[in-house]
Amino acid sequence: MHEMDAEGMTLAQAREAALRAYAPYSNFRVGAAVVAASGAVYLGCNVENAAYGSTMCAEANAIGNAIAAGESGLVSISVACIDADSVDGAYPCGNCRQLMEEFDIGLVEVSAGSGESRKHQLSELFPHGFKL
Ligand code: THU
Repeated sequence: MHEMDAEGMTLAQAREAALRAYAPYSNFRVGAAVVAASGAVYLGCNVENAAYGSTMCAEANAIGNAIAAGESGLVSISVACIDADSVDGAYPCGNCRQLMEEFDIGLVEVSAGSGESRKHQLSELFPHGFKL
């Protein structure tokens, strides 16, 4: 568990998590930091695998860590693609957007290696998401 920064977002922690990524195949390191309603922050990084399809995304690992810790309300997620040249190449994949939808993570912050960042509502990135 980690603390939020003053702005209530966690880009700096997402960047730190990205430094711990295991990405020997793509060399594309990603870190993610989920803020729970409790104020706690949960981190994830991408973990690749020689069987490429077994790779786990940073966002999925951060969300899984929050749920495993017993959190029920997830508020925001910051994603740091520290090897992306621009923020246009730093947006979450479709599967991770669906994972965010499941837990109503309303606010998504994305950032590239340059430090450039943008904030979006999930509804903007993933309209009409699937729910049961
Ligand atoms: N990756 C993530 O961690 N999150 C995303 O939303 C997109 C892709 C990772 C998976 C893989 O390790 C590397 O980035 C290149 O696809």
